[in-house]
Amino acid sequence: MIGVFDSGLGGLLVLNDLAKDYPEQQFLFHPDRKNAPFGNRLDDELQAIFKENLTYFKKRGCQDLLVACNTLCSTIDFSTYTDIRIHDIIEKTVNTVDVDKRAHILLLATAKTIEKGRYERLLKARGYNNITALALPLLATLIEEYASEETVYDYLKLMFKDIKDVDAVILGCTHYPAVKEQIKAFFPVKIFDSNNLQYSFLSNDKKGAVYLDLPKDEGLLHFLDHHLDIPYQFK
Ligand code: DGL
Repeated sequence: MIGVFDSGLGGLLVLNDLAKDYPEQQFLFHPDRKNAPFGNRLDDELQAIFKENLTYFKKRGCQDLLVACNTLCSTIDFSTYTDIRIHDIIEKTVNTVDVDKRAHILLLATAKTIEKGRYERLLKARGYNNITALALPLLATLIEEYASEETVYDYLKLMFKDIKDVDAVILGCTHYPAVKEQIKAFFPVKIFDSNNLQYSFLSNDKKGAVYLDLPKDEGLLHFLDHHLDIPYQFK
């Protein structure tokens, strides 16, 4: 079984595509919404959150853990964990960027992801030097709290007020595809995100299933209705 971890709803968007790309696999999604947003936390807090949740996935027999969270992938050195195969999403996301090397790339992410600079380093290593890295410290929370389209629009308008001449956008937070159309209205260009990436999993389940382990509430069911088009069951 493959564990999928995030602070919250962003991981569900990754999971939706994963389940379609790997229909024979079993997925267990368990976010840590009580500690969300991760993007404004200290490194030590993120280390502790990751360790605690790793124990959860190991106990349930996951052989693979997909960290569907750019913030954790920016902060934690996964090579120190050897008893479960951990899949990072940032390098793969950067490798999907296929625009002209002179393109002005707008990287949108949490404050922690921007602070860590991993996206920028990897983009620069691939020859992309014209990058604007913009932290959106409130956006994941607005999505977690099912904010209205108007509220999201007002926030984006404020945050984007000085950004011009963008050729491509990277959504460096897995929550942001939930408002991709709204971002596209500001920047009608090619948008890259951490969905539909290719993985090599150790798990080999043969009979696909998607299990969600998170508390059900009305807002969540509405979000699932809007954003998930795969069969799933609550654990
Ligand atoms: N979805 C996560 C990410 O990709 C975390 C967002 C948050 O909790 O701040 O960074």
